[in-house]
This record gives sequence, structure tokens and C-alpha cells, in this order.
Amino acid sequence: MSRRNNADNDGLTSVHAANGHDAQYMNDHASPTTARAHAWTFFRQWLKNPLKVASITPSGQQLARMMMAELPTGARRVIELGGGTGVFTSALLKHGIAADDLMVLELNDELHLHLQQRFPMAYIVNGDARELSKIAAENGYAERGPADAVVSGLGMLSMPKQLQLDIMAAAFACLQPRGRFVQFTYGPANPIAQDVLDALDLDTRRSTTAWRNLPPATVYVYMRRQSEAIPAVPMRGDHR
Ligand SMILES: C[S@@+](CC[C@H](N)C(=O)[O-])C[C@H]1O[C@@H](n2cnc3c(N)ncnc32)[C@H](O)[C@@H]1O
Repeated sequence: MSRRNNADNDGLTSVHAANGHDAQYMNDHASPTTARAHAWTFFRQWLKNPLKVASITPSGQQLARMMMAELPTGARRVIELGGGTGVFTSALLKHGIAADDLMVLELNDELHLHLQQRFPMAYIVNGDARELSKIAAENGYAERGPADAVVSGLGMLSMPKQLQLDIMAAAFACLQPRGRFVQFTYGPANPIAQDVLDALDLDTRRSTTAWRNLPPATVYVYMRRQSEAIPAVPMRGDHR
């Protein structure tokens, strides 16, 4: 499998445009018109498959900033699940993640094509998040080391537990030991079932809420549980 999109790099616009180094990976300009076009693309896919697309509108900039704020300090290699129209992809590139170190999975064929056209230099895969570890092994992403973070736009809340388990297991198989899984939810509580967290030995931290997002969304961060075992300190008179 090719490490790059099939999209021709001729499509690159404003290689050294005002936005800095991220601009070289993007094929559009941030404007209300392009934002509306992305929203329309997204809405059409929602009409076709509301359960999988899971939202009628792409995430807003406030939520994207809050998701980026949860990347570990110095994060270099990132995987994005459910890229949609590319709100987080764009934010990740702006955050400084190099296109070579970013892999984006999108299940929907049309949204996948949209992402390829919008980010011709990035590494966009048409695939299922359940298959993430297999995909990363087959296409060479995993060879270059584990990911520091997985950023997920998947509609976890509406997924059955088994699917949540499969996706979280595949994601943590690609993450370094202290790697983070960053997720958002529209619901009032943790979107991942406690059984799933226990089965995978994961801790959760509830982060901020993006009130300006439509609908408002809360960010959650998942990490492997660190051992809470405290080494035994010999007590006075303890001659064991
Ligand atoms: C709620 S939308 C979020 C899109 C984008 N990240 C955003 O925040 O605007 C969920 C996205 O996940 C994609 N998706 C759903 N199930 C998936 C799966 N199993 N693997 C990969 N992508 C999936 C959908 O097609 C959709 O684009």
C-alpha cells in the first residue's frame, strides 16, 4: 500500500502561504465558503448514514483546540480516527504534527476522498478503526514506531460495547506505553463503557467542555493504568 494519497500533488495550493508549514499540506483556504462546503459534504453523508457519521455537522474550532490541548507534550506521531471533513486533521497539522507522522482513518468513501483532496500530502486511509493495528502494520506506519496519541472523532457513545472494545484495543496496540487516546462526546458521561475500560485496564480523565460547539462536546482522555503498587518499605523490627 502506498504511503501517500493517490491525489496528485499538482493540487497543492499556497505552498508557502501565510499559515506557516501546515499550509503546504492543505489544499484549501480557511474561509466561510469552504467551511460551508465542508459542512454540506458532511451533512450529505449524515443523511446517508446517520449512525456511522454520528453528527450532522463537523466539529468547530473551539473543540478542535481543546482536543489538541490534550496531546502529550512533544507528541510527534498521531493517528486520527474518523477524519470526517478534516477539522482535526487541519488542527493537527497546524499544531505541528508532520504529515509523515500523521495517519488518518476514515470509513466513509466520500469523506475519505474529500480528505485526500483537501490534504494531498497527508496519509489518509480508507479503513475501519477496528482494523487499525492491522492497517498500521500493513502500510508501514507502525514500522516507524508507536503513536504518541490517537485523536478520535468517532461516535463512540452510540456504538455497541464490543465495537468500542475492538476499537480501543486496536488503538492501544498502536500507542506507546504512555500514549493517550483523546475522544469527544456530546453526552453527559464517559462515552466508553466501564467494562471496556476495565477489560483494557484503562484510566479516564474528563477534560474541558466546548460550549460553543454545536452541540456542546466534552473531551475525554484515556491512558493505560499505571501500577499503583507501592514498594514495601521494611518496618522497624521487621526481620523478614
Ligand atoms: C462524528 S463524525 C466526526 C468527524 C470529524 N472528526 C469532526 O470532528 O468533524 C465521525 C466520523 O467517523 C467516521 N467513522 C465512523 N465509524 C468509523 C470507523 N469504524 N472507522 C473509521 N471511521 C469511522 C464517520 O464516517 C465520520 O466521518
